[in-house]
Amino acid sequence: EMPFGPGTLTRVIAVTSGKGGVGKSTVTANLAAALAARGLAVGLIDADVHGFSIPGQLGLVDAHGTVPQPTRVDDLMLPPVAHGVKVISIGMFLRRRDGEAAVGAVAWRGPMLHRTLLQFLTDVYFGDLDVLLLDMPPGTGDIAISVGQVLPNAEVLVVTTPQTAASDVAVRSGLVARQTGQRVIGVIENMSALTLPDGTVFDLFGTGGGAAVAAALTQEDAEVPLLGSVPLSPTLRTDADAGIPAVIAHPEDAAARVIAGIAAQLAQTPRGLSGRALPFRPR
Ligand SMILES: Nc1ncnc2c1ncn2[C@@H]1O[C@H](COP(=O)(O)OP(=O)(O)O)[C@@H](O)[C@H]1O
Ligand SMILES: [Mg+2]
Repeated sequence: EMPFGPGTLTRVIAVTSGKGGVGKSTVTANLAAALAARGLAVGLIDADVHGFSIPGQLGLVDAHGTVPQPTRVDDLMLPPVAHGVKVISIGMFLRRRDGEAAVGAVAWRGPMLHRTLLQFLTDVYFGDLDVLLLDMPPGTGDIAISVGQVLPNAEVLVVTTPQTAASDVAVRSGLVARQTGQRVIGVIENMSALTLPDGTVFDLFGTGGGAAVAAALTQEDAEVPLLGSVPLSPTLRTDADAGIPAVIAHPEDAAARVIAGIAAQLAQTPRGLSGRALPFRPR
């Protein structure tokens, strides 16, 4: 039986996007830390094997750029804990040579990626989790298909920028997830308009993308809400670079507040009951 697969009481939430660089990992790391700060037991699988950035965002990197390895206990690995979140990433298994980026996993293709995902799910001892987040690679590639096969019960959050020209690819990533039975539970717009101290609205990436993606993914029987618009925020970026999510380091930051609000919305759905028919008929 697959841990966190169908039948699990843990909410499994895959965070996906159409393309890279939209802030998916930043949003995921902040959501994880915010959910943990609310007292939930949270795990985070960095499923972006080629573009992993979660260890750095959560401060799991030493001065030499090395990511600590999980502790091994018998056949299991204990995931490092950062900001209350149990984290596993391919970055924990790649050794750096001096001054060089680790290259070990760069050339991996479908079967290796699939095996890595299975190992993260079966060989890592997360214990009892309320929520397991997956930071997905961008797009609709091999890992997205593997996650769909192994975790058809996963709920999916789609991250997009406000740029309407970019929203088609974001919609596609949601549709592919839905094809495998996963449920798209919401859209998060990131890099939205920033209101400057003088009141000027700075909308670098335009407006409307999040609402457009939510509308495109909404079906007659399944509304897909826009859960929030996270503004452009230098603080969100510098905190991510420093390894302390802004929701922890600067909870007053406008972007941090929106992400914390999304975490609060997600935390409202009780564990074990999300979108699943009850196995018994209440009377
Ligand atoms: N709302 C935001 N405001 C400013 N910078 C952001 C915001 N969201 C993300 N970033 C920055 O944009 C870059 C890409 O973000 P990242 O989370 O790595 O994207 P992805 O995982 O989608 O590739 C990072 O440098 C990150 O700090
Ligand atoms: Mg990323």
